[in-house]
Amino acid sequence: MNRWLITGAGGQLGTDLKAALVGEEVQALGRADLDIADSTAVTRAIEDFAPDIVVNAAAYTAVDAAESDEEAAYRVNAAGPGVLATALAKHGGRLIHVSTDYVFAGDAQRPYDVDDPTGPTSAYGRTKLAGEVKRIAKRSNMGFRLRSPLGWLPISCMRETPRSAPSQLRQIHIDHCLSE
Ligand SMILES: NC(=O)c1ccc[n+]([C@@H]2O[C@H](COP(=O)([O-])OP(=O)(O)OC[C@H]3O[C@@H](n4cnc5c(N)ncnc54)[C@H](OP(=O)(O)O)[C@@H]3O)[C@@H](O)[C@H]2O)c1
Repeated sequence: MNRWLITGAGGQLGTDLKAALVGEEVQALGRADLDIADSTAVTRAIEDFAPDIVVNAAAYTAVDAAESDEEAAYRVNAAGPGVLATALAKHGGRLIHVSTDYVFAGDAQRPYDVDDPTGPTSAYGRTKLAGEVKRIAKRSNMGFRLRSPLGWLPISCMRETPRSAPSQLRQIHIDHCLSE
């Protein structure tokens, strides 16, 4: 049995994930319990619980508000994942981080593939991309990065979820897709 730590556990994904992980050893921390951009608090949480897997469901998802306060969005969407990745690189454990279709320009005439060139046109997309590229990728070889195809055809959802992702997460990812 794995030890799962969920950040942003009060949000949509965090709530669904908690339900999907019944029977597993789970610590679900909402924003009031753990601010992912607070490195001292993140380090303490990871040292105390020693998770095998951290699912980062925390994000600044207010797309319109991010346009007028990109700094606040950057703190959660870019700096926060970096804090998590850094703490896990030190203490061990895998990080599962969720991307978004906003990292793409949105003008393609076909569904995006996970490795298509990015080109965010919004503050939300820029900060999410910064979290993946600048913060996580250079710190870790231990994570999964899920480019969420919410709103795409369900078949794309299943193709996109890495085969190597833990089965519970695969399922919830697919369920999310199918419910959209
Ligand atoms: N929902 C979608 O359609 C969709 C589509 C594509 C990708 N995604 C991605 O999926 C992931 C989960 O999204 P979601 O839909 O579950 O978002 P959500 O419902 O907005 O949940 C995000 C959670 O993160 C919390 N949070 C904000 N700042 C935080 C911080 N500094 N530290 C800890 N927690 C913090 C929020 O708390 P407050 O509510 O108190 O702010 C909220 O509970 C995100 O990475 C998002 O980019 C979502």
